[in-house]
Amino acid sequence: MQQFTKLSDVPNPQQLLKDAIDFKQDPRSQEQLGKGKTLVMLFFNPSLRTRLSTQRAALNLGMSVISMNATQGWNLEFEDNVVMNSDKAEHIREAAAVISQYADVIGIRTFASLSDREKDYRDFVLNTFIQYASVPVISLESAIRHPLQSLTDWLTIETTKKVARPKVVLTWAPHPKSLPQAVGNSFAEWMHFADVDLTIAHPPGYALAPEFMADANVSTDQKAAFENADYIYAKNWSAYGAYGQILPVQENWTITADKMALTNDAHFMHCLPVRRNVVVADAVIDGERSLVIEQAGNRLFAAQAVLGRLLG
Ligand code: CP
Repeated sequence: MQQFTKLSDVPNPQQLLKDAIDFKQDPRSQEQLGKGKTLVMLFFNPSLRTRLSTQRAALNLGMSVISMNATQGWNLEFEDNVVMNSDKAEHIREAAAVISQYADVIGIRTFASLSDREKDYRDFVLNTFIQYASVPVISLESAIRHPLQSLTDWLTIETTKKVARPKVVLTWAPHPKSLPQAVGNSFAEWMHFADVDLTIAHPPGYALAPEFMADANVSTDQKAAFENADYIYAKNWSAYGAYGQILPVQENWTITADKMALTNDAHFMHCLPVRRNVVVADAVIDGERSLVIEQAGNRLFAAQAVLGRLLG
C-alpha cells in the first residue's frame, strides 16, 4: 500500500480488516515492525481520537512520533506561479519535501473549507501535499473522506454483528454548526464495499455527493429507515447541494429511545465528538446498545493495521 486516503488505495481491504482484528486481539504482536521509523502528523484542524489513537498505534509498532499543529501562524501557499509577498511564508513544494526528510510516514488532517465545493472535492490540500511528499501519506481526515474512521467502523460492525448481512442505517442528525460531509461520505464508501444492507436517511436537501449515494437505499423518512435496522450510525453533515449550508428541517432528526425502539434492537454508533441531546439523546448514547466507546477504542487497531501495511 502506497498511501491511505480512500478505499481504492487499499489493494486488499479484507486483509486490512483482518489485520485490524488481529491487532485488536494482540496489539503488541509487531513491536519491531516500525523500529527506527518516524511518523510525522500535521494537524490543520483539531483532533482528540485521531491524534491519540494514531500516535498510540505507531508506538505499538515501535515507531517514533512527531506531531505538529499547523493551525496558527504557519500559513502555507498552495498555488503555483504566485508572487509570495503576502502573509504566506512557505510554499507547499518546500514544506512537503522537507517534512519528508524527517518522516517515514506523514499523516495529515485537513478539513473541508465548506466554501469552495469544487476545490474541496478535489481534496486540494491533501493531494497537493501528496504531490510534493516523497514518503507515504495517511489521511487523518481530509476535505471529503475520513478513511481511518471508516475502517474502524467496519471493524466495529464486523466484530459485533449477529447476522451475516446486517441492515446498517447512516442517518443525518442535527447540529448547530456547519460540518463537513467527510465522515458520511467515507462511511458510505466503505459500507458499499462491506457486506451490509446500507440505507442512507437524510432530510430533503441533505443528499451526499452522488458518488457516495450510489447503490445505497435512500430515505427521507427517518422512522421508516429505522425499521429492522441492526446498526444506527448517526452523523451530521452540511448540505452538499447548497454547499456548506444548514438548511431548515421540518422534523426532529435527533436519535431518541423511541426511534431506536423501531429497530431490530440496533446498536448505536457515532464517530465522536457528539453533541448530546442534539444529535442523540442521553438514554441512547448511555444505553447498553451504544458502541461509541468501543468504536473509539477500535481507532487504535485500524490505525495500527494501516501503518503496518505502509511499513510492511
Ligand atoms: N472521530 C474523530 O475523528 O475524532 P477526532 O476529531 O477527535 O479525531
